[in-house]
Formats: sequence, C-alpha cells, structure tokens
Amino acid sequence: MFDNAVARPLDQIIAISRAYQADPREDKVDFGIGVYKDETGLTPIMRAVKAAEQKLIDTQTTKTYVGVGGDQAFVELLAKEVLPDHVYGTDMVGIQSIGGSGAVRVLAELALSLNPGASFWIPDPSWPNHRAIFGAVGARIATYPYPKFTADSGIDAILEALDAASPGDVVVIHGGCHNPTGIDPDLEELAKLAEGVVARGLIPFVDSAYLGFGRGWKEDAERVAVVADKAPEMLLALSCSKNFGIYRERTGAALLVGKGHTNLAAANSNLLALARANYSMPPDHGAAIVRTIFQDPALKADWLAELKEIRETINTARGALALALARAKQDRDWTYIDKGMGMFSLIDVTPEAAAALREEQGVYIIPDGRMNVAGIDITKIDEIAAKLVTAL
Ligand code: LMR
Repeated sequence: MFDNAVARPLDQIIAISRAYQADPREDKVDFGIGVYKDETGLTPIMRAVKAAEQKLIDTQTTKTYVGVGGDQAFVELLAKEVLPDHVYGTDMVGIQSIGGSGAVRVLAELALSLNPGASFWIPDPSWPNHRAIFGAVGARIATYPYPKFTADSGIDAILEALDAASPGDVVVIHGGCHNPTGIDPDLEELAKLAEGVVARGLIPFVDSAYLGFGRGWKEDAERVAVVADKAPEMLLALSCSKNFGIYRERTGAALLVGKGHTNLAAANSNLLALARANYSMPPDHGAAIVRTIFQDPALKADWLAELKEIRETINTARGALALALARAKQDRDWTYIDKGMGMFSLIDVTPEAAAALREEQGVYIIPDGRMNVAGIDITKIDEIAAKLVTAL
C-alpha cells in the first residue's frame, strides 16, 4: 500500500520554518512562520499564562475527559469578548476547537454538509492552509481579489467579484491583520462588505487568528462584532495561539451565529458530531489557561498589558521596516507596510527571487513574498532591508 504513496510537498510556511531552523548561518533572518519573537529572538510565555498555569497546577484535581465540545466556560468567555451583546448568549453556540485551524476545518465540514455544493470564496491572496483545508473537505474554492502592496482595501472590487457567487456560498473574511497582506478594511468598509455578503445570500465565515495584534484587543474584536451584527448567520473561527502566545497548546473556538434560529441547537449537534468523528475531544490545557485568565481580573489586566507591549513592538517593527526599505529603495512607495496591521506584510518578489534571498542572503520569507515582521531585530533593520531589496 505505501508504495502507492506519491510524496507531497510540505505546506510552504512549514517548509520555510524548517529550512530556517536547519540553517547554520548566524546572521540568518526569520521573516517566516507567524510567530511573535521578542528582541532576543525568543517567543516568550506571557506572564499571565505562566501564572494561570501555576494556578491550574495548584488547583486542578483531575485529568478526566472534559467533553466533545471542550471547555464550555472558555468558549463562552471568549465569545463574550468578541460578539455584540445582542448576539452573545442567545444567538450563538460553539465548541472549543483544536486551534484556529481546527475551527476552520470543522466549520468548513459543517457548512458543506448543510449547504452541499457551496463554493468557498477566499481572498486572493490568503493563508495557504485555507485552500488546503477547504480542498480537504471537498469544497469548491473560488477567490475574490484582495489588494497587495497598497493600503487601499479594495472593497468595491471584492463586492463586484462576489456578484458571481451563488446564494448559500461561503465567504471567508479575515477577522483583522489579514494574512498575508496586513491590509484590513476599516470598520465602515467592513460593515459594507458584510452587508454586501448578506445581500447576496452568502454566509460570512470570519477567521480571526490575530485579535489584539492590530489596533487593540477591544478594537480588533469590533471587527468580528461588525460582521456578527449584520449577518443573520455566520461561522466564526477564533484562535488563541498568537494573542496568548500558546501556539503549541492548540487553542481556539468554532462558533455559529444564528439570529432567532431555533435550528442553532441542531447545527451545534452537527458540529459536535463532526468533532467527535474527527478527533473526539480537544486538548484541555490551553483553554483552561485562557479561561483562568478571563476569570481573574488581575490576570486579565496583566495579559492585556503584555498584549499591548507585543502589539507596540510589532507596530514599531512595521514602521522601521517601511522606513528602512524607503532608504534602501527610494523609487517605491513602502507606506503600505507601515499602514498595515498585525504580523504580516508582502513584498513584490517572485518565488525564485524569494529562494535566492534565502539561499544567498539567509533571509527567510515565504515564496509568495510574505514577511512576518514580528520576528525581526530592528537594530539591524538597514542591513536587513538592503538584503531584501536585492530580490526586487
Ligand atoms: C502562519 O500563517 O504563519 C501561521 O498562521 C502559522 C500557520 O499555522 O501557518
């Protein structure tokens, strides 16, 4: 049987991450996988996370199963942070998921089982795993144009492309800090997009993995709330990997919003059945950490303070990179890098040029030109920018 296997390439983000780790050069630069690193190159365990873990060690009395839907208190506390008051509690259900990716997977399976034949509309470009996940569940994938190398969010072109969608199709909207461009519509544009999606009979599917890395925790949550406010039905994938720095704990939530829908409970039972048949139950530790932080006002305040420090470091790196690139290559407008939000930005290179950058300069970007600016050493920013522009 195994002789039938044809080798498949690794996901490009994972492949770059591996290649970076294996590179012995000391001056290598990591613009790869979406992980925050501090100025020493460390991805820190947040103070509140450490404290919550200690609290769990001291107080947890059992490791028995929690359940197919995971930690329901965690799900509700997280949902309360991001959904409008009139939706939270009455018009939503949800489960704990295996990270944001696990939420995307189980929600995609649910949507396709309830709307067989639906196309999934993703931005072009998008996170490469969207295509992999939706392809793996057997969905048809369509794309809408998403702006690159500009700060203009291009809402009109997106809505025009969605004219070709059929009622019941699913539209994936990045819930802030767009991956890979870093370009987000403002709240007004986002409301217009949500209205356009709803008016076309389409189902918004918000995938939010970087809440708190853009403008602020509450401000970023507003981006989810705006869509939830407009949509009669919505799928919502939330990740706690980045904003709590608990990447390996695989913590997230898969939520369904349905206004006045008696069938929400039935839809949730489908979600639970899909989860059970897939991985049975999610791991507990990450969700328990987040719940513990949300339940303790002092821990929550400290977490928010550290999240702010991280956000400010990322924004400083964005600004510094934009300025350094402007010094290194003056005939281009680099302001889109500074104006963008979150970890990612794009540089206009071919996959071949990205490979040369990696091999000759030790600068690791994703082949589509994506750079994670949250991992760079800004004391070396001019040196790094000089290397980057050799790829243009
Ligand atoms: C990324 O886009 O780099 C992150 O979301 C990590 C991942 O799983 O791809």
